[in-house]
Amino acid sequence: MSSTGMWVEKYRPTKLSEVVNQTEIIGSLEALIKDPADMPHLMFSGSAGVGKTTTALCISRQILGEHAKNYTLELNASDERGIGMVREKVKKFSRFAGMDEVPFKIIILDEADEMTSDAQTALRRIIEDTAKICRFIFIANNISKIIDPIQSRCATFRFTSIPEEDVISRLSEIAKKEKVKADKKGLKAVYDYSDGDLRHAINLMQATASLGGVTQENVKASAGLTKTSDVDTVLKTALSGKVTEAREQMIELIKVYGMSESDFLKYINSAVFKSKHEKLAEILEVIAKYDYRILVGANSEIQLSAMLAELASIEN
Ligand SMILES: Nc1ncnc2c1ncn2[C@@H]1O[C@H](COP(=O)(O)OP(=O)(O)O)[C@@H](O)[C@H]1O
Ligand SMILES: [Mg+2]
Repeated sequence: MSSTGMWVEKYRPTKLSEVVNQTEIIGSLEALIKDPADMPHLMFSGSAGVGKTTTALCISRQILGEHAKNYTLELNASDERGIGMVREKVKKFSRFAGMDEVPFKIIILDEADEMTSDAQTALRRIIEDTAKICRFIFIANNISKIIDPIQSRCATFRFTSIPEEDVISRLSEIAKKEKVKADKKGLKAVYDYSDGDLRHAINLMQATASLGGVTQENVKASAGLTKTSDVDTVLKTALSGKVTEAREQMIELIKVYGMSESDFLKYINSAVFKSKHEKLAEILEVIAKYDYRILVGANSEIQLSAMLAELASIEN
């Protein structure tokens, strides 16, 4: 699916006032940007999918208006995180002049905690040298990985996960606009899988909608399909020799998330390919053997457990 077809993008708030929950933070930020000249550098922390990047983009749009695009540099997870990036992109951008239309330029550094400490040190100099013309917005899951001199220059805001009530009302709003049927239990199920991560919740609801309405059944089915990354984890756990743990993870996927046994095998097969493991052929043979046994009618839970045990015994 193209990103424009994704509800998470389509329904990303464009103004601070549209951001769901995070009321205190949004209130303080609105006050802070009333007179942009006084705006400090900002640091947003908190778990995934709760509105950090969205809020940063809203601030840039609200302060810079129609010039937001030209005067905002947004660096995200796909960009390189080393000192080269700081010199190449941040330094270049922070220096170019000719800004009569805006009070300052805005640099949004998403996943700033992934930056090397060299890069952070270089950045610190840039922050000092460009104080008059640039404001930084740092986004970090783990603030403790940001060097003190940067932390101490920022006003910090901790975003919290979104409570059930707010997730559900946002989901209902979107379902209504998309003309998708969603019942109470279905929405509650989406929330239960999402853990207060609104991005995850919206994505799960969109995947579910493609199966028909948002019902508890359909949510379970599509959640099973979206748990493929967890299959990678099961494989890793098994290959590192931890049979019991791997088996527990597998059972959770099957029983709790409703992934079918045959899907589990399919996903584990593709996970093996992705892993580029040294013993690739041997691992595939093991999987094929159990796939066959299940196909001819053996009890799949017992077979899958045996398969994990056999995978765990493969020596690295
Ligand atoms: N507080 C929120 N209010 C409204 N939508 C949100 C909120 N948090 C997340 N979303 C939805 O999830 C998507 C991802 O949010 P984002 O701000 O990128 O999260 P993160 O905290 O990981 O930076 C947004 O495009 C939006 O659809
Ligand atoms: Mg983000």
